[in-house]
Amino acid sequence: MIRHDVVVVGAGCAGMRAAIEAKRQGVDVAVVSKLHPTRSHSGAAEGGINAALGNATEDSPETHAFDTIKGSDYLGDQDAIEVFTREAPGDIYELERMGAIFTRAADGRLAQRPFGAAGAPRTIYSADITGHVLVHVLYEQMVKHDIKVYEEFFCTKVVVDDDGRCAGLIAWDIVSGGLHAIQAEHVILATGGVGRMYYGTTNAFSCTGDGMSLAWNAGVPLKDMEFLQFHPTTLKSNGVLITEGCRGEGGYLRNKNGDRFMAKDAPNAMELASRDVVSRAEWKEIADGNGVDGCVLLDLTHLGKKKIHTRLPGSRELALDYAGVDCVYEPIPVRPGAHYMMGGVDCDVWGETMVPGLWAAGEVACVSVHGANRLGGNSLMETIVFGRRAGEAAARRAREERDSGSRISEAVLNDELARIKGVLGGEDGERPGAIREELAKHLYDNAGVFRTEAALTSAREKVADLRLRARTLRLDDHGSSFNTDLTAALELQSLLECADCLVTAALARQESRGGHSRLDFPTRDDDRWMKHSLCWNDQGDVRLDYKPVTVTRWQPMARSY
Ligand code: FUM
Repeated sequence: MIRHDVVVVGAGCAGMRAAIEAKRQGVDVAVVSKLHPTRSHSGAAEGGINAALGNATEDSPETHAFDTIKGSDYLGDQDAIEVFTREAPGDIYELERMGAIFTRAADGRLAQRPFGAAGAPRTIYSADITGHVLVHVLYEQMVKHDIKVYEEFFCTKVVVDDDGRCAGLIAWDIVSGGLHAIQAEHVILATGGVGRMYYGTTNAFSCTGDGMSLAWNAGVPLKDMEFLQFHPTTLKSNGVLITEGCRGEGGYLRNKNGDRFMAKDAPNAMELASRDVVSRAEWKEIADGNGVDGCVLLDLTHLGKKKIHTRLPGSRELALDYAGVDCVYEPIPVRPGAHYMMGGVDCDVWGETMVPGLWAAGEVACVSVHGANRLGGNSLMETIVFGRRAGEAAARRAREERDSGSRISEAVLNDELARIKGVLGGEDGERPGAIREELAKHLYDNAGVFRTEAALTSAREKVADLRLRARTLRLDDHGSSFNTDLTAALELQSLLECADCLVTAALARQESRGGHSRLDFPTRDDDRWMKHSLCWNDQGDVRLDYKPVTVTRWQPMARSY
């Protein structure tokens, strides 16, 4: 049996940062990832990473904290947000020392661009490929630190022993086939988000909520799952992200008449209001017949060729390739697309969950820093701050508690093998892809930017029906090597469990807050709903519960931009 002190599941920015920190603490650490690390979805992050360096105008961690709390529609935990904004600047300088090439200002300091709902230009960036740069820098560090990666290993189960503590995990070797028990008293989940439960998403095909499902089945509740962020500027053809950096650099949003329609909903911040506000404004504009073929127009033409080529080259290329538009000369048709799960595995500011030895960091986790709506640029920063903290804390605990005696038994491994063989041998039922598509389309139509009781009830019924139908799936490939049919079937179970949590929590929350906008309950209701939802696994069904929001210094106020 394989054994390590700390095993990180997932190799995006949060996972790699956690592994590097754990290794620095002197423990034996390994990473299990269904993808080669540099193919992780973190690489798709474009516009930048937020820290109050104050290089462009005056800024402070307190201002960053206030913007984040207001952006979260007061659902973010303020103690966590204060940790986040206080530690972010140090982490940026450390990334730079690792070798991250950030864009510079004329005075040689790190450049910072404006981003949505930020009180100061706070977003550090590498043109518009920031995630790509960070993934490669962190991977170099992984190689430098000689961290073992079980690459193309799909984690199927987190094992919790009879005493209720984490004993390690079981993973399927995608390349050669076969199930492996990996003993580890500390497992850090860093598997990213679940955007693929929606049609029209910026997320990679791999973003299927695996870590959320692993934690949920290990007994950890998922928190605030009703809060799914729609990014205002995505391409209609394939959901590809056109970065908020375009608006940060001065881009406009226009309707079919050429009007900058954000003047109606956000007269001060205009295009740089928070994402929930901009997405709703776009949706209304399109519904009112002021769109162009189901989109609004992102106009960069006034920025000029030089700025677009130096600051936004990736966006220009994406618009050219997937919309056939050269944004130097023409506006890009864009619309809101599913982008980021604010909710996730319930954990504290060190990433610790209620199962001893099980940790979470990055998008899979809900600390909660983002509350009901995340600010652009806070996600990459979260992966680094909380990845580092989870790696440090898990390693510290591993040193203190070396060998608790917890082991994965043969019986547990055999049970999991029987389950996987059952899926692998599936000959009846529907194809995983068909169910996944039905789910994604239905959620986009019924649990999207605007929600109602009727639509959410329909979504809940659909998810229940799909969960039933997905109990038996037909696989065309029954082999064990590179069987993408098998991984699709396993991913589908995760997507459906996360979707069930989302629709259940969304139906129950009778208010509008951040990314959860109910037409039938259009206002925020702090008296009844300023609380986190918790979705527990009750023998496979979702059981709802709630817990309070932590408020330190900032009392809830009306939110306008
Ligand atoms: O628009 C963007 O570049 C996305 C950034 C983010 O989600 O943080």
